[in-house]
Amino acid sequence: MENTDLESLKTSALNAIAKASTMDEITLVRNEYLAKKSPLMALLGKMKDLDPSERAEYGARVNSAKGEISNALDAKVKILEAKELRAKLESEKIDLTLPGTSEEQGARNPFYVVKDEITEIFLGMGYEVAEGPEVESDHFNFELLNIPKDHPARDMQDSFYIDDNTLLRTHTSPVQARTMQAKKGQPIKVICPGKVYRRDDDDATHSHQFAQIEGLLIDKDVNLGHLKATLELFVKKMYGEKRQIRLRSSYFPFTEPSVEVDVSCAECGGKGCSVCKGTGWIEILGGGMVHPNVLTMSGYDPKVYQGFAFGIGIERVAMLRYGIEDIRRIYQNDLRFLDQFKKR
Ligand code: PHE
Repeated sequence: MENTDLESLKTSALNAIAKASTMDEITLVRNEYLAKKSPLMALLGKMKDLDPSERAEYGARVNSAKGEISNALDAKVKILEAKELRAKLESEKIDLTLPGTSEEQGARNPFYVVKDEITEIFLGMGYEVAEGPEVESDHFNFELLNIPKDHPARDMQDSFYIDDNTLLRTHTSPVQARTMQAKKGQPIKVICPGKVYRRDDDDATHSHQFAQIEGLLIDKDVNLGHLKATLELFVKKMYGEKRQIRLRSSYFPFTEPSVEVDVSCAECGGKGCSVCKGTGWIEILGGGMVHPNVLTMSGYDPKVYQGFAFGIGIERVAMLRYGIEDIRRIYQNDLRFLDQFKKR
């Protein structure tokens, strides 16, 4: 075999390797020059035709050419791999200085913020949360609260009736009676947040559905002073240390005496302004000492046990706190309204 055949084969292989610029091209070159049926292998195959004295030297030459080609291929593979890695890193480069895409953060409806805050304040004073149904019987909603049929107080709480004896509860007070019956004569300290319904024409301060937090404490030797101290603590935690409360006598069939509770106006500090309509006070809740009839009807002896109860309108607290002028805003889910309560 001619030396030049081998030399030119090697040269063209090395040229092809030098020219190859991708891994695919290198694979092609490798197949062309080193595969079983390649010309180089054919040259090796010719060895058997040679005179035995020439075979060793011939074999060594072909093998050394093969080794050179193979080394050149391996070296090129390394170069190309490095090049590809560099290209990949380049293309995947992250620009840490680019501004990020931020998620739009929602806001909690101020109603729930206030409801949770009130609940937390009373939990902190050792109250438990009690619940009752929104579809309530006349018995629990009225009768057990000392509001018999034909009692004029029913007119103030006209409701949605399901049938003659079933209605959407008009206040959270039926939970008082339910809790008393469940506790069977044991002391009680509960609050009950929940929805209530009244047949009202909706306007800026009225809604046919709203929410209250009822409070009920029953124990021995409980008096009006305990109620006042409890509500004072609540008001200071809710509205700030500087707020004061004022109790005015009022009437509820299920409490005696009954009170209406005002808080000193945060806007003017009590001097009188448009928010408090010139009085310096804003009414926030009703309450009183649990009426002996109510205690008796649900199994508590009024000579042994006394209690106080109160009902807070949640929306009213939220409206005062945030200066919301129309109760309907709380229910409408208008993002322009809700966005104002985002934490900043
Ligand atoms: N249930 C009364 C209302 O809805 C509020 C209240 C609760 C008053 C508890 C006294 C005691 O108006």
